[in-house]
Amino acid sequence: MNKSNILTEILGRIKPTMDEQQKMQKVADHIISLVDKVAVGLGLTDVSGTLVGSAARGTWISGEHDLDIFITFPEETSNEELKNVGLRIARQVAANADRFEERYAEHPYIHANFNDFEVDLVPCFRVGSAAQIKSAVDRTPFHNQFILERIKGLEDEVLLLKQFMKGASVYGSDLRTGGFSGYLAELLIIQHGSFIQVLGAANTWKPGTIIDIMEHGNKQHNDPLVVVDPTDPARNVAAALTLNRFAEFIDRARQYLDSPAFEQFFSSLAAPLSDAEFDIITGKRGTSLVAVVFDRPDVVEDVLYPQLFMLHSSLTDLLSRHKFPVMNSDVWAGNGEAVVVLEMEVQHLPPVKKHLGPPVWEGAHAGSFKQKYLQNKGLSEVYIEKGRYVVDVQRKYTDAAELLRNELHTCRLGKHVGENIKSGFKVLHGRELLEVDYQSFREFLTGFFHQNVNQ
Ligand code: UTP
Ligand code: MN
Ligand code: MN
Repeated sequence: MNKSNILTEILGRIKPTMDEQQKMQKVADHIISLVDKVAVGLGLTDVSGTLVGSAARGTWISGEHDLDIFITFPEETSNEELKNVGLRIARQVAANADRFEERYAEHPYIHANFNDFEVDLVPCFRVGSAAQIKSAVDRTPFHNQFILERIKGLEDEVLLLKQFMKGASVYGSDLRTGGFSGYLAELLIIQHGSFIQVLGAANTWKPGTIIDIMEHGNKQHNDPLVVVDPTDPARNVAAALTLNRFAEFIDRARQYLDSPAFEQFFSSLAAPLSDAEFDIITGKRGTSLVAVVFDRPDVVEDVLYPQLFMLHSSLTDLLSRHKFPVMNSDVWAGNGEAVVVLEMEVQHLPPVKKHLGPPVWEGAHAGSFKQKYLQNKGLSEVYIEKGRYVVDVQRKYTDAAELLRNELHTCRLGKHVGENIKSGFKVLHGRELLEVDYQSFREFLTGFFHQNVNQ
């Protein structure tokens, strides 16, 4: 397939048909009229529903029926009232849905399912400008206006870019992914003019790249990519983008420009690693695998993943401090369990370790060090190396798994992960990892070892 055929073919798959668009509009109109009706029923004539997000901009991908409906309140409304009345309206609207649940961002909102439509009902303030927001969600209507004024005719380019980002597994500003949001994809298209031109630009990106569409001149961010929010100069739209997702996108963009392929728009599914493959891979690598396994806290991913990442870095720090440097590590969460997998060059260290004392010429310190180890005999006499006293002593932990079992409780942990770890965890090593018997864990392991994956 040549370049333009690929894009035509992709668009054919991801662009909603007229029929699908009309259906989406109808559902949106229906829910907005419900919001307005409920508000009027409560005597609130200045509260109204409005459609924002990709559904309002014609930049949504076929089959993804995500409706972002904001319930807007006058600026003078108190936080308390917005929260209480906003939720009350949202709940009454959602009473017509198949099911719904309350979710928490900075403010609570309602996520409802109307048939196969995923609907977010989000109360927000109607403020004068995005710089005067009272809550993070108040920016969204400004984003909507900014994009709507400029996106006409570029919708297909946004669709291609979003789908390409999905193919590269870098789409989504949720805290688990740490990738590109839909709004960010739209801004990149507005800045560069087309999907291919965004890829061309990415080919020149380096950490510290700044994109400032409205020339606000704000450069006060220390993120890999800074896209100054046109509607709120103090904010970086790419704040959630991690260095890895940033680099992965550059890599995929370059690969596509060199040799465009249809497959790059779709992410490959990792094949689950079998017991036999696990044995072959670990046999060849000869490393030591250790996993910490505990009950998955029952919280949303945006709460869970930052805590898993924190646990992950606490564990790698703990191991490194005790001279078990971690080569590779990652986190996985299934329905029931959460796991941190750590791969080390060694799991066992000898019972002896060097204990460094002060330089010989540091009077009092040096004296007390020497005194201590004369009385309290180590595995050697006190000797001198590079001007310092040194003594060989007994290592506290010779086994990394035992270190984890005994010292995990000393790690800094997030609230929910901390609570669950406290009520129990397992440390598995080597082949014991295969006890975590979930298909998706086996797929995770394939990715962990950076193995080839199936399409
Ligand atoms: P969505 O996550 O639903 O994104 O957020 P989207 O733009 O509609 O894209 P898709 O097609 O559903 O994936 C809705 C709106 O909330 C704001 C944006 O204005 C977005 O359009 N938002 C969301 C942000 O500003 N930042 C975020 O990280 C997420
Ligand atoms: Mn959306
Ligand atoms: Mn949404």
